[in-house]
Amino acid sequence: MDTSPLSKEQIEILIEAGARAPSGGNMQPWIVATHAYGIRVSLDEKRSCASWFLDVDRYASIFALGCFVENVSLKASSLGLRSDVRVKEGKETKDFSCEVVFHHTGSPSDQVLADTIPIRTTNRRFFDGTLIAGELLQKLQSVLQKEKVPVLLHTIYEETDKKTLARMLADADGIRMTKEEPFSQMMHEFRWSKDEVVQTKDGLDLATLELPGNAEQMLRLLRSFQFTRKMLPRQALGDFTKPLLLGCSHLCCLAVDAPVTQSSIFAAGRQAERVWLKATALGLAFHPWTTLVFFLLRLKLLHGEGFSLSEKKELASLDGKFREVFGLEQSETPVFLFRLSYANPPTARALRLPVNAFTTFAKE
Ligand SMILES: Cc1cc2nc3c(=O)[nH]c(=O)nc-3n(C[C@H](O)[C@H](O)[C@H](O)COP(=O)(O)O)c2cc1C
Repeated sequence: MDTSPLSKEQIEILIEAGARAPSGGNMQPWIVATHAYGIRVSLDEKRSCASWFLDVDRYASIFALGCFVENVSLKASSLGLRSDVRVKEGKETKDFSCEVVFHHTGSPSDQVLADTIPIRTTNRRFFDGTLIAGELLQKLQSVLQKEKVPVLLHTIYEETDKKTLARMLADADGIRMTKEEPFSQMMHEFRWSKDEVVQTKDGLDLATLELPGNAEQMLRLLRSFQFTRKMLPRQALGDFTKPLLLGCSHLCCLAVDAPVTQSSIFAAGRQAERVWLKATALGLAFHPWTTLVFFLLRLKLLHGEGFSLSEKKELASLDGKFREVFGLEQSETPVFLFRLSYANPPTARALRLPVNAFTTFAKE
């Protein structure tokens, strides 16, 4: 096998593909250092803060690193390179990193998924409810790799199940809106003007949220008068999000059937990116909806730190109902939730930081 080093241009192409990966709040929590034979990907402390309420002990960031490395590895395959990925768990999650070494194989593969990397996107539009054929869902299932860490895809489409889940997600959104920390962190993720979007190249551009009617004015009002969030009845939140959830074809959950560790969350991120790319290649719209699953992870991993006693009880009950609706085994932990449908393309795309903003290139 040819083990000659890659050129800076080749490595840059691979990192560029990695940087197209999704991340919670588009925070892009990765740092890359290159060497002659590959790259080292680690967490950016500033962008993956353990105190962020939904980035439970940085697990959402490690998940995003999994998406990054999957993109790198798929792009490498399409260029005839094999990637050896070695995960290095840290003593603390902030020290998580991963080494990727490339070998020339001379036989390109994974072309379709690799070609989809630049067009994969989060699509938050209203969907028209057209049911996706079982055959396409099987194709999605087929991209999940049988790895050491089993990652399973569960889907529901029946009206009653979707209604039950919509109620549960509204309850989780209700908790998020009324609690100081997750609420102010959500406000911090938004980019409130075009200038801010272009300058930061991260965070959530309001244009990508596809907000209906006067919802954007509502958000701006909540930002200026934060106390008003406590006046929002949960029913109103549920009424707002229900059409988005009932109007999709399937609601889908990715679960790991293994202990939750840095490695298993990273593996889940890699598999999630494969499913997302495959959905895109099949012409399907994909929209993560993860507040509830990260709240449940917080309950499980951090004993619900930050929640009141009554919120913990409520989340424990939601955990049971969530498992029931998706038919999860006790050994499984849900790590990602998304809605899936046919839809028109999104009206706006999220920006990315330039590669040199987070990469240190080795001297050639
Ligand atoms: C771990 C994780 C959690 C996410 N959670 C949500 C979510 O709850 N709601 C949402 O609208 N998008 C969610 N997203 C999507 C990101 O906001 C999106 O990937 C990011 O803004 C970049 O946009 P893009 O996917 O269109 O490139 C999540 C993505 C990841 C990786």
